[in-house]
Amino acid sequence: MAIRLVVMGAPGAGKGTQCERLCRRFGVPQISTGDILREAKRNKTTLGVKAEEFMSKGLLVPDDVVIGIVEERLLSRDCANGFLLDGFPRTLDQAEALDRMLKQHSTRLDLVVSLDVAEDEVVKRISGRRTCSGCGEIHHVSFGPAVGTGRCDKCGGALVLRDDDREATVRERLRVYRDKTAPLLAFYEAKGQLVRVDGVGPVDEVSTRVLAAVERAARS
Ligand code: AP5
Repeated sequence: MAIRLVVMGAPGAGKGTQCERLCRRFGVPQISTGDILREAKRNKTTLGVKAEEFMSKGLLVPDDVVIGIVEERLLSRDCANGFLLDGFPRTLDQAEALDRMLKQHSTRLDLVVSLDVAEDEVVKRISGRRTCSGCGEIHHVSFGPAVGTGRCDKCGGALVLRDDDREATVRERLRVYRDKTAPLLAFYEAKGQLVRVDGVGPVDEVSTRVLAAVERAARS
C-alpha cells in the first residue's frame, strides 16, 4: 500500500520502536534522520563530523543539512511507493521544505502521527535504552532478554548507551523538542493531517493504536 507518513514525538517517545513495526506492516522504507546522522558520525564523513558538533550537545543539526539529506533520500527508487519519516521534520522550516518537496512530486503526506508521552516517562525510557553498536537495534534494560547478556539479539553486537543519552544531554534534547518541534503539532493540525496517539503502555498496545490510526487514514 502506498503510504506517506511522518512519526513525531519527544526524544524517547518510541518513534524508532513503532516506525520499525509500521515499515514492516506497510512495506515502506524507514527514513530516520537520527540514524542517517549517527551512521555518518560512525563513518567519520564530513557530514558526520559536522553533525557530531550539534548532536553531542543535544542540539538540532542545521536545517539546510538535514533538508538536503531528506531531499536526496526521497528521490531513491524505494520511496516511490511511500515512506515513513522518523524524526523529520523537527522545525517549521523543515516542515515547509518537506511540503515543497512533495508538491514537486504532486503528492502529499497521508498522516502525521504524534506519539504522546510525558517527559518523566521518556527520561525513564531513554536512561534504560541500550542500542546495538552493530546494527542499531533498540533494546531496553527492563525488557528483552538480550540486554542481560550485553549483546544484540539480532546480530550479537555490543549493546551501548547512545552518546546523547546522558542525562544532561537528554534534558537539552527535551528543551529543544518543546521549543522547536512541538509547534509543528499546530502546523499539521491546521492542515488536518495530525493524529495524536497515546504512546504510554506496552509496546504492542501502542502499536495497535498507531496501526488503527494509520489504517483509518489510508482508507479515507
Ligand atoms: P533521533 O535519533 O531522532 O533521536 P530522538 O528524536 O531524540 O529520539 P530517540 O531516538 O531518542 O527516541 P525514539 O522516540 O526513537 O524512541 P525509541 O523507540 O528509541 O535524533 C538524535 C539527534 O539527531 C537529535 O538530537 C539531533 O541532534 C539530530 N537530528 C535528528 N533528526 C534531526 C532533524 N530532523 N533536524 C535536526 N537535527 C536532527 O524508544 C526509547 C526507549 O524506550 C527504547 O529503549 C525502547 O525500547 C523503549 N520503549 C519504546 N516504546 C516503549 C513503550 N511503549 N514502553 C516502554 N518503553 C518503550
